[in-house]
Amino acid sequence: MQIELGTRRLSYDDAGEGDPVVFVHGFPHHRKLWAPQLRALSGQYRAIALDLPGFGESDMPERFTIETWADGLARFLDAIEIQRAVIAGLSMGGYITLAFWRLHRDRVTALVLADTRAGADTEEGKQKRRETIELARREGPTAVARAMLPGMVGKSTREREPSVVATMRAMLESASVDSIVGASEAMMNRPDATASLATIDVPTLIIVGDEDVLTPPKESRAMHTAIADSRLEIIPGAGHVSNVERPAAFNQVLSEFLGGV
Ligand code: MLT
Repeated sequence: MQIELGTRRLSYDDAGEGDPVVFVHGFPHHRKLWAPQLRALSGQYRAIALDLPGFGESDMPERFTIETWADGLARFLDAIEIQRAVIAGLSMGGYITLAFWRLHRDRVTALVLADTRAGADTEEGKQKRRETIELARREGPTAVARAMLPGMVGKSTREREPSVVATMRAMLESASVDSIVGASEAMMNRPDATASLATIDVPTLIIVGDEDVLTPPKESRAMHTAIADSRLEIIPGAGHVSNVERPAAFNQVLSEFLGGV
């Protein structure tokens, strides 16, 4: 589906009826990252996954910043007439979800933070972003996808699930150079969200793959310690895209959590 937000079009999937759950993808993904969750939840919930501006079939954003995406998410909820929702973000989607909490917490009934972290980029992390930007400009999205894939997908999945690896490769390759550059800069410039974790007073589910090397389980443990009403679930045999790599395990903990919200 598509909706006009001002002069820009935003694409999204909207499945089922019930309490809304809104899914925010990571970098450089698009809304189909959440296809296994929309399939699993749409019998009981209104499950929505959007293409962040700049990705998938959405138009480019006004600016690439994490806060611009968070504000855009609030405008999107207004447009589809949702006052409050469960907001679920994976990785960069988690950075946006935490920004959404800081800026629009009255719109949040519960949070899901998957394979993400609260801290800002380290100097080493920023250097890696500069390398990604350079690679995107020099060789394009396919080269970026090739470089990112081993970190994106866990070791077990790379060894045993070639179709999942192929799905993720195609998704990474679909991002444009401008969006790879813009989102990398947005992530590099994002503020440290650690201090805001103590303000989270809604039920929060933290999920991470035990083989996630990009946002390893220690980041999730730290968020779990800082967020009072949080539950931590570590998915065995999954890497950074734990929802795609182990959808059954992911969906089970997600459904249990949503059932209690
Ligand atoms: C993502 O999956 O969104 C990215 O790996 C996040 C990041 O690079 O920090």
